[in-house]
Amino acid sequence: MTDIQKEQMKQRAAAAMRNAYAPYSNFRVGAAVLGGSGAIHVGCNVENASYPVGTCAERNAIGAAIAAGETRIMAIVITAAHPDPVPPCGMCRQTLYEFGHDMVVVCVAADGRERQYTIRELLPDAFDSGMLNGAR
Ligand code: THU
Repeated sequence: MTDIQKEQMKQRAAAAMRNAYAPYSNFRVGAAVLGGSGAIHVGCNVENASYPVGTCAERNAIGAAIAAGETRIMAIVITAAHPDPVPPCGMCRQTLYEFGHDMVVVCVAADGRERQYTIRELLPDAFDSGMLNGAR
């Protein structure tokens, strides 16, 4: 991810965050992922009156990227209307790991402060497809 790509992803994630459908939590999140093609794909959280049906911004961005034909995700920027950078939830960490074991994860606070991780830092000793073959 170049600095220019990172800036574009921050802007795209912030724009997606403004479209978040979060009437129940009022916790708006936007995400922008950088696909292997170099294209950027976005998502926001989409809540539901049946609370567990809601989905996170990160997984919606991954879904948009895969639907557009991406097979690898290089990086993700996550933006939330929160004073601190908001890291991805556990379920999203597992989804991110599926599409890039070396993915860069950038979390951006409302004031622009950011924290940067790798997905391996956020999900050590991850379960992956290789383990499916070893089942007894
Ligand atoms: N949420 C995300 O979209 N991403 C995260 O990383 C954390 C949580 C959403 C889910 C729900 O709509 C709201 O934030 C509150 O949990």
